[in-house]
Amino acid sequence: MSTHDGIPVIAIDGPTASGKGTIAQRVAQMLGWGYLDSGALYRLSALAALRDGVSLDDEAALAGLAARLPVAFRGATIELAGQDVTDTIRDEAIGNAASRIAALPALRAALLDLQRGFRRAPGLVADGRDMGTVVFPEARLKVFLTASAESRAERRYKQLIEKGFSANLDALLADLRQRDARDANRAVAPLKPAEGAVVIDSTHLGIDQTVAQVLKAYRDLARRAGA
Ligand code: DC
Repeated sequence: MSTHDGIPVIAIDGPTASGKGTIAQRVAQMLGWGYLDSGALYRLSALAALRDGVSLDDEAALAGLAARLPVAFRGATIELAGQDVTDTIRDEAIGNAASRIAALPALRAALLDLQRGFRRAPGLVADGRDMGTVVFPEARLKVFLTASAESRAERRYKQLIEKGFSANLDALLADLRQRDARDANRAVAPLKPAEGAVVIDSTHLGIDQTVAQVLKAYRDLARRAGA
């Protein structure tokens, strides 16, 4: 028995720009639970590697770096070695580097304990690619959140423009398709719905509607478990 027994987890996995982060944060807020943005850890590892001059192909060095990642989450702010990198890690170049190193088994293994350490009472909502399949296979609810590539590219485009970055919709769509293929086809922890996952397609759903569907799925489960 681990000390985590009984602390519920909601795992929300899905492709890039599916809105997982926004939805997971809102669900966590509604339930008063903690939140884990696991993608941020891959992005932070990529940023740390680029800053330290570690090659994105050097699996052992990357794993060592990830195991000692000097990261702090302070509310919505993410720090690496005491420096605010909240916006820096959202850069497309960092996202691409993160997707590349995420294919390396030793790096993924190095991030496991860090991710599981976020599981604290009264509960955790975790978003990523393998929350329900690998990191929290015993999660109480597993959600696979998806949307068409076109609508995800459009959302990403709007986000970037709002943040003052320049962006090109066609290039974003091509990039997103490439990243989808890499995340879904890698040998370790490929992106796929976990067994028993509730699949939600948010192409035609707003944020509130999607959050409501996740909360309903959780309540339905709790009701069935109590029945
Ligand atoms: O969710 P995101 O776009 O911030 O994730 C960045 C990259 O990290 C993504 O291309 C795939 C990888 N990732 C992963 O392999 N496993 C996770 N649990 C989360 C992210």
